Amino acid sequence: GSEDDLVIRPPVVTVMGHVDHGKTKLLDALRDANVVDKEAGGITQHIGAYQVHTEVDGDDRRITLIDTPGHEAFTAMRARGAQATDIAILVVAADDGVMPQTVEALNHAKAANVPIVVAVNKIDKPEADSTKVRGQLTEYGLIPEEYGGDAMFVDVSAKAGLNLDKLLEAVVLTADASLDLRANPDQDAQGLVVEAHLDRGRGPVATVLVQRGTLRVGDSIVAGPAHGRVRAMLDEHGNEITEADPSRPAMVLGLSAVPGAGQNFIVVEDDRMARQIAEKREARERAAMQAKRRV
Ligand code: GTP
Ligand code: NA
Ligand code: MG
Repeated sequence: GSEDDLVIRPPVVTVMGHVDHGKTKLLDALRDANVVDKEAGGITQHIGAYQVHTEVDGDDRRITLIDTPGHEAFTAMRARGAQATDIAILVVAADDGVMPQTVEALNHAKAANVPIVVAVNKIDKPEADSTKVRGQLTEYGLIPEEYGGDAMFVDVSAKAGLNLDKLLEAVVLTADASLDLRANPDQDAQGLVVEAHLDRGRGPVATVLVQRGTLRVGDSIVAGPAHGRVRAMLDEHGNEITEADPSRPAMVLGLSAVPGAGQNFIVVEDDRMARQIAEKREARERAAMQAKRRV
């Protein structure tokens, strides 16, 4: 595609931060559903992805949000999250302040050259100190606009639903100020597997993020070592959709196996080619594993 084929796409935003600082609760509040209660022990095991709408200056704007877990064990997932991201929302609980995974998430975002919007969360708590959070992050080089820096900080409460619209507005303003977000929707889709699991009834289910092109029901795809024809797609509300444009997350049914989070997917010409590519990838992975075992 040429420059003319490029159209504006929504920013892809990763929600990062220390464990229990409220990432999932915040996403939950933003999309008006309840994920926290459904998770085992309230811990996010996988990255989830959703799209929300917000109005900025009278325009309806879409934002794609990706959840990441804060536990130490998930460093690789946060690194991959940052790679797929246009903007990071760094969630810092105002009672706890900056913690180890806050700093780690900040470093991932910096390494990926991703602008950061800070959500200072839990400001409903009596012990909340959002000024302290600003001071702590300033020491790490993330300087709030009101202190003369270029990072937008928004005090929020995911629990009380405070300033959520302001946070989304800050994301849109940051995107407009520092990013040129365009993609060509008129090409075979490619993107990233955000999470995947085996569903008892539906078989392998993969949440993918379309980064380029448009993914359609009926497309032949390769996702990591898995392949198949897209049998159906669902949006974040579980509604069936027939296509997904750039920056749109979608749940894809019809894969032969469960791909890994962070693996790429591509649309190819037909099922036969999809199978061939997938088999090659599988053989390569097997060989790599055997080589590792010999060491
Ligand atoms: P991990 O995915 O495990 O890293 O945690 P997380 O950052 O997703 O945190 P989560 O959303 O699971 O919230 C952790 C706890 O903080 C839950 O008990 C939430 O109800 C609570 N919480 C989140 N946001 C707020 C808030 O704004 N105010 C208060 N008071 N509690 C909150
Ligand atoms: Na949690
Ligand atoms: Mg979580």
